[in-house]
Amino acid sequence: MDLFEYEAKKLFARHGVPVPIGEVVATPEAARAIAAGLGGPVVIKAQVKTGGRGKAGGVRPAPGPAAAEQEARHILGMDIKGHIAETVLVETATVPVEEYYVAYLVDRANRCFLAMASVHGGMDIEEVAATKPGALIKMPIDPLTGIDEGAARELVARAGFPSDLQNAVAEVLVRLWRVMVEEDALLVEVNPLVWTAGSAIIALDGKVSLDEGAGFRHDHAALTAGPGDGGLESRARAKGLNYVKLDGRVGVVGNGAGLVMSTLDVVAQAGERFGGVRPANFLDIGGGASAQVMADSLEIILSDPDVKSVLVNVFGGITACDAVADGIVSALGLLGDRGLSRPIVVRLDGNNAEEGRRILTEAGHPAVRQITTMDGAAEEAARLAAA
Ligand SMILES: Nc1ncnc2c1ncn2[C@@H]1O[C@H](COP(=O)(O)OP(=O)(O)OP(=O)(O)O)[C@@H](O)[C@H]1O
Ligand SMILES: [Mg+2]
Repeated sequence: MDLFEYEAKKLFARHGVPVPIGEVVATPEAARAIAAGLGGPVVIKAQVKTGGRGKAGGVRPAPGPAAAEQEARHILGMDIKGHIAETVLVETATVPVEEYYVAYLVDRANRCFLAMASVHGGMDIEEVAATKPGALIKMPIDPLTGIDEGAARELVARAGFPSDLQNAVAEVLVRLWRVMVEEDALLVEVNPLVWTAGSAIIALDGKVSLDEGAGFRHDHAALTAGPGDGGLESRARAKGLNYVKLDGRVGVVGNGAGLVMSTLDVVAQAGERFGGVRPANFLDIGGGASAQVMADSLEIILSDPDVKSVLVNVFGGITACDAVADGIVSALGLLGDRGLSRPIVVRLDGNNAEEGRRILTEAGHPAVRQITTMDGAAEEAARLAAA
C-alpha cells in the first residue's frame, strides 16, 4: 500500500525524522486557515500517489494565507497522470541550500534490502540515475543486521556528502531505517532530503510503501484518516470494506466490484427522473456477505447524513441469496434503531433467490422493501431518496 506524502511524513515524525510542519486539507479555505496558523511563507502540495508532482504544477509556493487559498484552489481537483488531487498538504516553506536523495527498498533478486544515496537529489533524480549512474550510490543491507550508524556513515561518505554534514545525514538515515523496519515498509524514499538555510537536515518529500501483509501488526488505519470524507472512508478501511464516498443520496451496497459499478450507473440513470438523484457511495462487500460484514456496511452507509435511501443489490453466487438474506436480517438486528432510520431497498437475484426473498419477507423488517429487478430496485431507491 502506497502512502500519500502527508502520511509518510507522519511516520517520519513518529521516528524522529525532521519534516516541515504542516497539515493536509481538502478546501482552499482550510488551506488559508492553516497557512495563517503557520505564519510566513508556505508550500501547497498536491496529495496524489504518483511522482512528478512538482513538474506538473502540483507543488506551489505561497507567501501568505491569501496566496495559499488561491494556490490550493488551483491545485485541488488537478489531474496529475490520472490521479486527482483531492487534498493538499500546506506546510512551512524551507529554503533548501542543497537537495539530496536517500532511499531504502527491498532488493528481491538479491534477497536483501538496498540503501541508495545521492548528493544530486531533487526533481531530476531519475535522469541522474540514467545519465550519471556513479552519482547514485547503492549499498546492500543484510536484513538480519540492518543499518547502524557505522554503515550509514559509510554510505554518506561514499555518496560524497560534505564532511560537516555526514554525521547529521547518517543520523537521519538510521531513523529512516527504523521507519523501514518498525513500520514494515517495502520502500522508504526521501527526495529531496535538504540542507536548509536554517542549518538543518529536513525531509521535504516522502514516499513510503507499506507491506499490507504485515498490516495486522500496526495501527496504520489511523494514519490514513484524512479530511474530505468525514472519516467514513478510513472507518470503512479499518473494517476491511471497499468503500468510496460519492456526493449523491442513495447509499449502495453490492457484492462484486462490477455489479456495484453498474448499480451506480442504473441509480444515476433512474435518478434523472427524480430531479437528478445520484448514488452516495461505492461499497463492495465482495464474495462473502456475513451478518457482520452486512452490519458494518449498513452502519457505515447510514452514518452518512447525505444518504436518504439505501439499495442493497446482491447477485447470489458462491454465497447464495439465502445466506445473504440471513446476513441482512441479523445485520438489522445488530443495528437496532439505526436500521430503521432510512428505507432499505433489497434486490436479490441468482443462487437461491426465492429462498432469500422468503427469509426477508418473513422477517418483515419495517425499513426493508424488496424489488426483484435491478432497474426496478434502482428506481424505487431513487424515488425514496427524492421524497
Ligand atoms: N516545504 C517545502 N519548502 C520549500 N520547498 C519545497 C518544499 N516542499 C517541496 N519543495 C520544493 O519542491 C520540489 C518538489 O517537491 P517534492 O519533491 O515534494 O515533489 P516532487 O518530487 O515533484 O514529487 P514526487 O517526488 O512525487 O515526484 C522539491 O524538490 C523542493 O525543491
Ligand atoms: Mg520529490
